[in-house]
Amino acid sequence: MTLICVPLVARTVEEMVADAVAAAAAGGDLVEIRLDFIEGFRPREHLPLLLRGCPLPALVTYRPNWEGGQYEGDDTTRFEALHIAMELGVDYVDVELKVADKFMNFISGNKPEKCKLIVSSHNYEYTPSCEELANLVASIQAVGADIVKIATTAKDIVDVSRMFQVMVHCQVPMIGLVMSEKGLMSRVLAPKFGGYLTFGILNAAKTSASGQPTVEELLEIYNIRRIGPDTKVLGLIANPVKQSKSPILHNKCLQSVGYNAVYLPLLGDNLASFLETYSSPDFSGFSCSLPFKVDAVQCCDEHDPVAKSIGAINTIIRRPDGKLVGYNTDYIGAISAIEDGIGGPGSKDAAISPLAGRLIVVVGAGGAGKAIAYGAKEKGARVVVANRTYEKAVSLANAIGGQALRLADLETFRPEEGMILANATSLGMYPNIDGTPIPKII
Ligand SMILES: NC(=O)c1ccc[n+]([C@@H]2O[C@H](COP(=O)([O-])OP(=O)(O)OC[C@H]3O[C@@H](n4cnc5c(N)ncnc54)[C@H](OP(=O)(O)O)[C@@H]3O)[C@@H](O)[C@H]2O)c1
Repeated sequence: MTLICVPLVARTVEEMVADAVAAAAAGGDLVEIRLDFIEGFRPREHLPLLLRGCPLPALVTYRPNWEGGQYEGDDTTRFEALHIAMELGVDYVDVELKVADKFMNFISGNKPEKCKLIVSSHNYEYTPSCEELANLVASIQAVGADIVKIATTAKDIVDVSRMFQVMVHCQVPMIGLVMSEKGLMSRVLAPKFGGYLTFGILNAAKTSASGQPTVEELLEIYNIRRIGPDTKVLGLIANPVKQSKSPILHNKCLQSVGYNAVYLPLLGDNLASFLETYSSPDFSGFSCSLPFKVDAVQCCDEHDPVAKSIGAINTIIRRPDGKLVGYNTDYIGAISAIEDGIGGPGSKDAAISPLAGRLIVVVGAGGAGKAIAYGAKEKGARVVVANRTYEKAVSLANAIGGQALRLADLETFRPEEGMILANATSLGMYPNIDGTPIPKII
């Protein structure tokens, strides 16, 4: 089982003990006591207090600034503190690869049976190649580590796949994490790829590295205790993605139907390279949103006829034969919401849509605009498409049999009462939620 480790980064011993108690209550399995965060840290006085007050197994780390930590002093003082922690019966000690040999000499190779030595390497810039990562694992093993820890940084979500590859082949327990929002997958999928532990924070103010989810998110949203080697990976690939409520919704659904899968927010840069990199059958389906809905058409091997007509895809399924099939379900959601809004309860069941014969102005001609324009036309509405790039409005209007309009002309466009206006541009979405493609007065 992959353990959930809660990093403790409080400035005082009292706060740290309080956070350790909170970590146990939140469902963490162990805590990482970051000694380098404690102001005026005095090992002989503070370590017994910390370890006695901690209700969970503890990992003690005293990270120097040259490895991304807060400690600015010499190694001997640091090693002494770690040695004291070992003598006091701590469960794990973390020491950096760069000084691991020196530390082993310092303790003369003697560490208590109970204490596991984690030897760690952090790369805050990028994620090296598989070969370099494998060499790093070998170097860490060679210094006598019980557990290998490698943390790198994702510049692109595809970087995480290299960490997964190395983790599944590692012969000793390994913690393999990729920092930054684009590396979130490495943290949630640690149980799938055999990670020894993953970090879960108490709250956003108590983070020790970029991209760490909260313990609550790991347990309540991603159901991490249920993730294992056979768990299928699903997710929303978009940019930005962290505003999305889809993981909350889909993971609850997956849980309620008992399907062994997890749904992740996937911050991507390039849909094609994402799908190519995560091409195993376990990565079995994706939602896709801004800005990938139109690109997704090129990426899929087969298309549902509706998706083909719309020219945008929001759902991709990887069939068992590996082929990617694209669907568009956006228009159903958007159109039925509009029907509900204008037609009142029960309108969806009526033989004739309340949209039939109505004039709808769709602002935007991207993935969402195409879906709404197509759906409205299907329901018998008269469709006008307005878009910043006029040529795209013309092309969409021609494709569905509607009228095109320049965005600027929208202000004076008043052919009749009761028109429906649908904003399908990216203006108004998180984080600029007050943005609008046309003056609010309209
Ligand atoms: N709830 C849902 O089911 C759902 C589904 C899909 C999308 N959405 C939302 O719909 C929005 C659009 O998504 P999409 O997938 O259609 O994106 P997209 O394919 O990238 O299209 C973006 C559209 O917004 C327009 N636009 C961007 N910046 C603009 C600006 N400054 N002024 C005027 N127009 C601007 C673009 O015009 P140009 O052509 O001139 O670039 C284009 O028409 C997003 O907020 C997305 O989250 C919701």
